[in-house]
Amino acid sequence: MRRRDFVLGAMGAGLASTGALDPFVRGDLTARAVPARGPIPYGAAVRTDLLDTEFDYKQAIVDHCQLVVGEGGLKWFDLRPSQDQFVFDQPDRLIDFADQNGMQMRGHTLAWYGAMPDWTNSIGSASEAERELVHHITTVVGRYRGRVPSWDVVNEAIAEQPESGATIRGSIWQERLGKRYIELALRTAAAADPSAQLVINDYNIENPTQQCRDRRQALLDLLRDLKDRDVPLHAVGIQGHLPGDMDIDKEGLSRFVETVKGMQLDVLVTELDVIDNKLPAREYDRDQVVAARAHEFLSAISEAARPSAILTWGITDRYTWVPMWFKRDDGKPNRPLPLDAGCRPKALMKVIDEFTRAAE
Ligand code: G3I
Repeated sequence: MRRRDFVLGAMGAGLASTGALDPFVRGDLTARAVPARGPIPYGAAVRTDLLDTEFDYKQAIVDHCQLVVGEGGLKWFDLRPSQDQFVFDQPDRLIDFADQNGMQMRGHTLAWYGAMPDWTNSIGSASEAERELVHHITTVVGRYRGRVPSWDVVNEAIAEQPESGATIRGSIWQERLGKRYIELALRTAAAADPSAQLVINDYNIENPTQQCRDRRQALLDLLRDLKDRDVPLHAVGIQGHLPGDMDIDKEGLSRFVETVKGMQLDVLVTELDVIDNKLPAREYDRDQVVAARAHEFLSAISEAARPSAILTWGITDRYTWVPMWFKRDDGKPNRPLPLDAGCRPKALMKVIDEFTRAAE
């Protein structure tokens, strides 16, 4: 078995059908206390700085997760305060935490338009952009070679509103290198860690709107082009930031996943949460709608293929990006995640349990 097969196995595909974690696949993690869950690993985005100060937060992650991913830390803004600096404190801390608790860390993210430090605006030419991107990915992926089984190599590459001839989102990379930055990022990541699962991660593809249909099509076209040219790519990350007040396009999403699988690519859910700013005020009612929406989404995906992992973007309502963009008009706190602000499980956690055990 090749190393990459181990890794993909560890991300879910090779776990025993009994639901127990296969000791061979988990390698050196066997002796550790991995939370009892189903065959599909569950994980959450973590704010690493809180692990040392908030015991209940840390315990919630230990109790529920098999995977962690830094909500920040590996983004250029955090890692590269200046051109000649790499600050690895946060990801080093998180991967140690993962190791100590029998979890694995996913890497997020290497090439994105967002969270870029100002100095990158001075990258003036294509050759400079290529040099910077290659240097960054080689250094970061190389540092964690063999330890981070899965990377969001390219994040949110599809234009918000794709139009013919303009389907790739603007970024320093796209502006300097054109679409070829995507291939460059993937090839560089593969060279830095041939064992890692390389992922293209995107959002806003699951609703019954023309925008989502166009985004799905643009993403499929990109994947097809990369596969046709043998660019190393192993999976598509469906973020799943679900607007709670919008239906899921179950048929469209299932068909999308089937097409992705037909290209011999895996699918994983990378950033699930339910944006609840337009949902009912009463907490019980809101939690039911949140859970039902996630259920619709996960069943549309699972009917077409077994996801290799399911991660939520945060674990407790105490810490979520959602109010940065989607505060409620009534001033009540958002409740987008599986645990409430006191780290008690809500209906959404039951849905996650159901789908992570679905393949048993
Ligand atoms: O920690 C600092 C704090 O010290 C400072 O006082 C404060 C003032 O602005 O900022 C705090 O940092 C913020 C950080 O979130 C806190 O977690 C940053 O400003 C803010 O930009 C950062 O936003 C993150 C955003 O990505 C941009 O990096 C969100 O937490 C994070 O949830 C969000 O995650 C993205 C994924 O990477 C990609 N998909 C969508 C997802 C949600 O937007």
